[in-house]
Parts: sequence; C-alpha cells; structure tokens
Amino acid sequence: MTLTIALIGSGAIGSRIVELLDAGTVPGVRLAGVVPHGNAGTGFSFEEALEVADVVVECAGVAAVAEFGPRTVAAGRDLLVTSIGALCEESLRTKLLDDGPGRTFLTTGALGGLDAITAAGAGGTIHRITLESRKLPASLVQPWMDGETKERLLTATLPVELLRGGPGELIKAFPKSTNVVSALALAAGNWDVVEAVLIADPGARHTAHHVVAETSLGTFDICVTNEASPGNPASSALVPHAVVRGLKSLANASGSFI
Ligand SMILES: NC(=O)c1ccc[n+]([C@@H]2O[C@H](COP(=O)([O-])OP(=O)(O)OC[C@H]3O[C@@H](n4cnc5c(N)ncnc54)[C@H](O)[C@@H]3O)[C@@H](O)[C@H]2O)c1
Repeated sequence: MTLTIALIGSGAIGSRIVELLDAGTVPGVRLAGVVPHGNAGTGFSFEEALEVADVVVECAGVAAVAEFGPRTVAAGRDLLVTSIGALCEESLRTKLLDDGPGRTFLTTGALGGLDAITAAGAGGTIHRITLESRKLPASLVQPWMDGETKERLLTATLPVELLRGGPGELIKAFPKSTNVVSALALAAGNWDVVEAVLIADPGARHTAHHVVAETSLGTFDICVTNEASPGNPASSALVPHAVVRGLKSLANASGSFI
C-alpha cells in the first residue's frame, strides 16, 4: 500500500523531506504536493491535500498547526506534527489528540529518549524532568525584544540564561524553542513536571539539549547535540530524518519500535 502525504511548509525541514522522498529513500510513501504559504500559487491547495493525502505533514510553525491541524483530523486525515510547541495550548491539544477521527502523530524531532520517558510515564511515575537548552544567541532574537535587549544578546561574550519555566512560559516568549519542552511534557503525560532553562551561549557550536528525567522506573540522563540544519541555523539537521523515519513506520507495519 502506498501512503500519500502532503506537506505544509517547505523551509529547511520541509525541503529536506522533499529531497529525501524524491531520492526514493522512503519506499511506499508518495508526496502529493506542498501547500503553499499565503497566495504563492503552486497549483496545490490545502483543500486538495485533504482530498488526496492519507497524512498531512506540518513543518511550518506553531501557527500553521492551529490553522490546519484541527481541519485535518476533523476531515479524517492523519496529521504529523513537527511544531509540537503548538500543543501547549490545551484546546488545540484536545482537538488534535482526542477529537479525531483523524490521528495526530508527533515527530521525535530533535530529541532522543522520548520513548523511555513515555514508557516510564505509562508504567510508573514521572517525578521531574529538567531540560537545559543551549543555543546560539542569534537564533534566539525575538520580534518582541527591543533594540537594547537584542544588542545585549548579540554581543554577549558569556552564556546568558534567558528564561526558566515550564512549556507555557516558553511558548509565550520563545515560540520556536518550545518543541522540545512540549515533546517532553507530552511524553510524560504531564505539563507540570517539566522545567526548562533556555541559555544563549555565544560559545555554542551547536544547539544542545540536556534532559534529566527522574522517574519511579529509573533516571534518564540524555544529552543531544544537534548539527544545525544547513537551511536554518535555528533548526536541527536531524528533524527531517525523524519525520521521514516516522513516515516509514506509518507506511510499513514492520513491528519495530526502534
Ligand atoms: N520537533 C522538533 O524537534 C523541531 C525542531 C526544529 C523545528 N521544529 C518546527 O519545525 C518548523 C519548521 O522548521 P524549519 O526549520 O523548516 O523552518 P523554516 O522557517 O525554514 O520553514 C518554515 C516554512 O513554513 C512555511 N510556512 C509558514 N507558515 C505557513 C502556512 N501557514 N502555510 C504554508 N506554509 C507556511 C514558510 O513559508 C517556510 O517555508 C519550525 O517552525 C518548528 O516549529 C520542530
């Protein structure tokens, strides 16, 4: 059986997914088209995506999840989300994860170890998860920052702690940096156990995430240092491969979870 997909977003992640599919790395998966941003006519629309695609793959940002996600699952199509931070918002989360009839899948994205945390959450108790994310200062500049704040961030010579809090605090201030913290909360099945620290590190060569999950079934200490995506220094090169790996699992019932 062929799994037909449609993409929303053709930036660093989406365009790499297109390359991987075009190269034939995912037998059994066919790309029907890419939904354009705004009025950029490409001859393919979201309505068409709903008609032809088994899975709509979002790689366009948290706003696009809110715009297209509920309509996708309501139409009985499956949705694969990369902008997991969007699920911080409770009503959207319910529409995507509970309402159906389409199913919502979340990519493992830039992180590892989510499988162990999910298993521990299902079979035991998650006491606490801490996440320390280090990123290059330039990737953390936000539209709400005034000139002085931006200047201080960009000229910092030592690491600067920008924010400490849960997924809710992070999504308000750094919406593009909430995917990992939200993925952890979703894996834990609890939005209150995760505390994140976001650090702008002028010495960072890569984005790095250090997760410590303390659970009744063990402590998981996970360090991931991501190579940057060639198309977007704020994105990780791993993410399109995580999405494609997810599509492979959906297309081929291999029975393997690793
Ligand atoms: N889960 C993870 O670990 C993880 C890691 C990195 C990025 N992400 C998510 O993936 C998203 C995409 O990352 P990227 O590096 O490719 O970003 P990018 O900025 O390079 O590309 C985003 C693309 O989406 C398009 N787009 C935006 N809104 C759209 C809309 N409403 N309709 C159609 N197209 C739209 C833009 O035009 C652009 O082409 C990020 O916003 C982020 O939320 C997730």
